[in-house]
Amino acid sequence: MIHTIRVHAEHEYEVVIGCDWQIVLKQALDSYTRVALIYSSAMRDQIKDFQPENTEIHYFEVADGEGAKTAQSVQSLWNWLGAAGFTRSDALVGVGGGTITDLAGFAAASWLRGIDWIAVPTTVAGMVDAAIGGKTGINSDYGKNLIGAFHSPQKVLIDTSWLKTLSDRDFAAGLAEVVKCGFIVDEQILELIKGKNLSQIRGDGALVQDLITRSVAVKAHVVASDFKESFGREVLNYGHTLGHAIETHSKYSLRHGEAVAIGLVFAAQLSGVKGLLDSKSIALHEQILNDIGLPTKYPSDAWKHLSPLLALDKKSRGHQLRFVGLSGIGKTLRIEDANESELRLAYERISS
Ligand SMILES: NC(=O)c1ccc[n+]([C@@H]2O[C@H](COP(=O)([O-])OP(=O)(O)OC[C@H]3O[C@@H](n4cnc5c(N)ncnc54)[C@H](O)[C@@H]3O)[C@@H](O)[C@H]2O)c1
Repeated sequence: MIHTIRVHAEHEYEVVIGCDWQIVLKQALDSYTRVALIYSSAMRDQIKDFQPENTEIHYFEVADGEGAKTAQSVQSLWNWLGAAGFTRSDALVGVGGGTITDLAGFAAASWLRGIDWIAVPTTVAGMVDAAIGGKTGINSDYGKNLIGAFHSPQKVLIDTSWLKTLSDRDFAAGLAEVVKCGFIVDEQILELIKGKNLSQIRGDGALVQDLITRSVAVKAHVVASDFKESFGREVLNYGHTLGHAIETHSKYSLRHGEAVAIGLVFAAQLSGVKGLLDSKSIALHEQILNDIGLPTKYPSDAWKHLSPLLALDKKSRGHQLRFVGLSGIGKTLRIEDANESELRLAYERISS
């Protein structure tokens, strides 16, 4: 069954969930003269038979993974768009994981100060997170996602059949964001997922589609209330403050979702240390994430490295660290007054 969710951002657009991406994309491209389809080497076999009848289509292959999100990569894409004579009435399509939709969206945001683009996410993380919400960007030598723009797509096409080939590790990592949506807004997500391991979830197509639909609805709702990030949108960062520090500390050997899983348990523990969240809700974080096979612990001796990294977090203001916490499931709040001993105590509780 196809679900359509409308996102109200700088313009309104549809996320079509459960569709056949080729059929819907062909229709969506009818209004454009020329289109560049951006994909990574990993997607080569799946995209080669895509051939719309009424639109001139060009294919542009980029490096896989974070290799796509570099200044060199966007520079060669700009050069190529220039040589091919792309105008404001042409469009880009990004087919791939979050790295590809981030790059395609950023190229679309910057080419001629903004042309249309369509996202076809192929990973769980891309479907529930990266392709929704209008944030686009690339990495700099100084950190991830430091260069970017808000530029929403015209459409997001979610075809869950892509997920058949996704590795268990990437599937589980994407589910960390789904679990986050359950804790911050939609408790039903937790009910649906509780007690199930990764293969039980993967093996149930209707459940996967339901989880994706619910997570997209959470993100669409939050983004609509706060497109450019004051506190409304900050709730999406639940678990991400420590998660980002762990990603950096691990030199990106952990997937984003794996680091976020540890960060979710830390944020819950910190909420507990502040007397805001009960122990049952904290334990539920660990139980659900462990059942999926996601990590929830990090080495105890890493705190001395993580603590200074937390200060670099985008949500920090001056010297004050800011965390998204919970006072119950679905009840988010800002924690701005955590002192070093409270942070350390919360960290001890997630230390291995
Ligand atoms: N813009 C945003 O709001 C936002 C939000 C979250 C994450 N992101 C970004 O998204 C990126 C992470 O996304 P990701 O986890 O999708 O990573 P990714 O794009 O690197 O994909 C992970 C791996 O899965 C492979 N892959 C993709 N689709 C596949 C499929 N259907 N079958 C088999 N393999 C497949 C890719 O080739 C890659 O090796 C990060 O760069 C992150 O910064 C952006």
